[in-house]
Amino acid sequence: MDEGRASRTAIATAYFRAHHCKHANPKIFEDSLAGALLRADDVASLERFLLAGVAKHNPELAASGADRETRIGLALRGLVVVLARARFTEERLAEAMRDGAAQYVIIGAGLDTFALRRPDLRERLRVIEIDHPATQAFKRGRIRDAGLEPPPNLHFAPADLERESLAEVLSRTPFDRSRPAFFSWLGVTMYLTDAAIRATLRSLRSVSAAGSQLVFDYLDRAVFDTADPSPARARLFETVRRVGEPMIFGFDPAALEAELAEEGFRLLEDLGPEAQSELYYRNRTDGLQPTATAHLARAAVV
Ligand SMILES: C[S@@+](CC[C@H](N)C(=O)[O-])C[C@H]1O[C@@H](n2cnc3c(N)ncnc32)[C@H](O)[C@@H]1O
Repeated sequence: MDEGRASRTAIATAYFRAHHCKHANPKIFEDSLAGALLRADDVASLERFLLAGVAKHNPELAASGADRETRIGLALRGLVVVLARARFTEERLAEAMRDGAAQYVIIGAGLDTFALRRPDLRERLRVIEIDHPATQAFKRGRIRDAGLEPPPNLHFAPADLERESLAEVLSRTPFDRSRPAFFSWLGVTMYLTDAAIRATLRSLRSVSAAGSQLVFDYLDRAVFDTADPSPARARLFETVRRVGEPMIFGFDPAALEAELAEEGFRLLEDLGPEAQSELYYRNRTDGLQPTATAHLARAAVV
């Protein structure tokens, strides 16, 4: 990731949530504030980028006279896990809160709007957002520009997690190690090395009370099998490489339970594309389908 610049993928995922909220019906996830954090120039530059990708990779569609919206919608299809993971997380967080969780740590928050959308939780949930300093500064500026007020239960923790452990970062925040917490780690694992993944899990485990939970999304390691790259996969990988955030990591679903157990976690759920389809994509007429290689996982600290 470019040190001095806000994460391009964080802006792109917010754009997708905003686009879906505006255009899709029924909605997989309703992020009513993502659009407020984007300026017209962010939107224009992302749309130019997406349309250039369509022109390059789908020349027939580009030449077919399909309108701009259709072409942008097509470009976004491969990113649909962005919506499913946000929905999965907020549903599981609500369940964890019913079981007593009162702190929520968002690792690599990007332009996540949960705390802004849920002022009703300000007395019941402490929210801690950890993100790269450049991305977090960008987000705080956009919250101000939009005339929004961060609620008092939202705590920002700028940090480069390549240089600092999660435990060190949390020690600077009101995080309470003695009480169960809920953590999300969305859209991040695919950009980290194996060592960084393990270090983050270990660090999270070291500061968490038993019963704390972590949700994350991951790519099936098979996607890195270069013997048979699908065109959709090749397009996505090239796109993220072009913006300086290459995808490099995946778990093997068959080994996930054992790998998490080694770090002190019990796997509670691992939703592959079929399970996601059942949960979030039924009765759609717009053809949206789960991202074929993306999983949604939930684990408990033991
Ligand atoms: C693809 S975005 C996902 C954002 C958000 N969670 C979502 O689902 O839309 C990846 C996020 O990880 C953050 N990130 C990447 N490398 C990081 C690092 N070394 N330290 C802290 N945050 C990092 C980026 O700033 C960005 O916000």
